[in-house]
Amino acid sequence: MKAVILAAGKATRLRPVTLTMPKALVPVANKTLIGYAFDVLKNAGFEDIGIVVNDLDSPIPQTLGDGNGLGINLQYILQEEQKGLAHAVNLCRDFVGDEPFCVFLGDNIFQDKMAPMFANFLSSGAESAIALGEVSDPTRFGIAELNHDGSIQRVVEKPKEPQSNLAIAGVYLFKASIFDAIGRIKPSWRNELEITDAIQTLVNDGKRVDSYTLKGWWIDAGKPEAIILANQLVLEETPYMPAPENKEQIIGKSEVSHRVFLGKNSQVIDSVIRGPVIIGDNTIVKNSYVGPYTSIGDNVTIEGSEIEASIVMKNCVIRNIPGRIDSSLLADNAQVVAASHMPVAHRFVLAENSYVQL
Ligand code: DAU
Repeated sequence: MKAVILAAGKATRLRPVTLTMPKALVPVANKTLIGYAFDVLKNAGFEDIGIVVNDLDSPIPQTLGDGNGLGINLQYILQEEQKGLAHAVNLCRDFVGDEPFCVFLGDNIFQDKMAPMFANFLSSGAESAIALGEVSDPTRFGIAELNHDGSIQRVVEKPKEPQSNLAIAGVYLFKASIFDAIGRIKPSWRNELEITDAIQTLVNDGKRVDSYTLKGWWIDAGKPEAIILANQLVLEETPYMPAPENKEQIIGKSEVSHRVFLGKNSQVIDSVIRGPVIIGDNTIVKNSYVGPYTSIGDNVTIEGSEIEASIVMKNCVIRNIPGRIDSSLLADNAQVVAASHMPVAHRFVLAENSYVQL
């Protein structure tokens, strides 16, 4: 069985981070979002994975290449215009052939590895199976209503009056029959070919669509707050690790707690770090406090500042900031520094959709 990961979206809700970086490569606990999809798929035995992208020269193929080194074989499928999930799936027809296959939405991250869903599908006789998770805001998702045996009775994309709080959670198993169903659907009110409508077509044809209810948390990481929450949930799961004591890396009056991962050549100088925290390579934390649920990338400098529950990507500088930085997302090369000479004033160079709270 092959799998396809859909990662061709415009990711407008995550701007300005996604102006230069596709959402799939946004780091959560210093690992790309798409890396978590690979973990689930590899755990289920998938080796051949297609990634739907909006540009074959984009940073996704440039960064991930043919998957060599990740233990998977990657191929890229171009979707020039984002005409909907069903349109994207249809473009994968040659890649998956006539075999059953998995579709994984590249911006979803799960605690559950969903092993029973993958293991049962081929012998179940069902035409499709979809993962479902409970949500508090069902109008934002595809929503499922179930029969008594747990199979799907009805699915509706972003219903105005939802009949359940069971959302379609971004992992689908299909047989080749889905392509015929996609061929019979029409664009929705948002002018997209919805995979939800293609699944409803299978149900209308009398085919069985099974459901799998997710265990644990699941996040559609489309917005900055969702990425920060995902970072917290992933770091929360880091296993116990004793406090690092390496004197070349932990210097002066520093206090570093357990569950702090410190990368190569990084230094903590006269600073307090309370885990769970992950710090990349060649990063300096000096005269600072780094609190729980913070992920810091490579080549970062944090000096004279306090930060907590945040993501700081590579090559950032944070220097002499008064007050604590909390729940923040700094993309590659961002700088937040106090004025070092008169006039001591706020000064911003912000990209579209930037957000500053002082
Ligand atoms: O997150 C779960 C929800 O995902 C489901 O409950 C919905 O039923 C499903 O339609 C989908 O809704 P979204 O509105 O959140 O989908 P979004 O546009 O964010 O796209 C999800 C992923 O698919 C994202 O990684 C981008 C990619 N994509 C999207 C479109 C529209 C493509 O690769 N091609 C596309 O044409």
